Amino acid sequence: MTVFTSSRKRQHMLASRAAAVLLVLGICSPLASAMDPPVAATHPPVPDTIQQRAMACTSCHGVHGEGAADSVGSPRLAGKPAGYLLQQMRYFQNGQRRNTAMEYVLRQLDLPYMRELAGYFASQQVPYPRPPLPAASAATLRRGEQLALHGDPSRGVPACTRCHGSTLTGVEPMIPGLAGLSAEYLNAQLVSWRTNTRAAKEPFCMGIVANRMRATDVTAVAAWLASRHLPSDMRPQSASAQTEPLPGWCVMGDDGERP
Ligand code: HEC
Ligand code: HEC
Repeated sequence: MTVFTSSRKRQHMLASRAAAVLLVLGICSPLASAMDPPVAATHPPVPDTIQQRAMACTSCHGVHGEGAADSVGSPRLAGKPAGYLLQQMRYFQNGQRRNTAMEYVLRQLDLPYMRELAGYFASQQVPYPRPPLPAASAATLRRGEQLALHGDPSRGVPACTRCHGSTLTGVEPMIPGLAGLSAEYLNAQLVSWRTNTRAAKEPFCMGIVANRMRATDVTAVAAWLASRHLPSDMRPQSASAQTEPLPGWCVMGDDGERP
């Protein structure tokens, strides 16, 4: 339960921060802009570059989209597949993924604008810090490794590597990496699929995977993933590296945005 209380508090805090960011940029304040003197009269014109646009995001996600060290307060965007980033923005906009701050920030952005931001953050190459080492027993880590590399056929859980790539660094264009994320972040995402606060409509790949696991499996796989050494190449693998097609229940429909 503490997870929910603290995340609600955090959302509230982030929502106020989002409001402040948008007010500063004048994005959400038609009243203010009607009353203020014309910008050009007092300031040099602001250049309309992608870096300038991304500033609406970097106050929370970091200058290059590197995110908070544990990715929990604000997740990393840098280097994640562009299609995945865009898809998540669409989910926040259409209410399939719930987060007050993100829903607010994206409210008025159109698809081409979001596509540009997704491409920008996907192209940022920032080193990954090693996530904090989770406290977990040897048995827990063994169970986590088993799920990640082999899945649990008795529960219909495919290996995480089946979709997230053999190096677990993700697969272009839609599947994010699992390497370099903290146990707390991984755990929170898996729990949010089990409680329907993350994308609940078709294709519900991770909803299915997360709900087929036991609660203890979720903790175990998050702990194992976060305690691995990081691969030297953290970039998502190309789509052609995926030897097996995604299971039928995980095929992106027309809703799946392409970069
Ligand atoms: C007020 C803080 C804040 C601002 C400003 C903000 N974000 Fe976020 N963003 C968050 C938080 C918190 C989450 C994690 C939400 C969750 O756990 O579901 C998030 C999640 C995301 C995700 C999903 C990441 C993933 O790996 O699943 C994307 C994509 C994203 N933000 C893009 C943006 C973009 C683009 C902007 C600028 C237009 C932006 N954000 C501005 C706080 C913010
Ligand atoms: C059937 C394919 C499939 C399998 C198997 C799978 N995933 Fe995923 N995973 C996805 C897809 C697709 C996404 C992007 C989800 C979305 O669009 O919201 C994803 C996203 C995630 C994310 C979000 C990452 C982020 O940056 O926010 C986590 C965490 C995750 N998966 C964990 C796991 C774990 C742990 C396993 C193994 C137990 C696993 N996944 C197995 C398809 C899969």
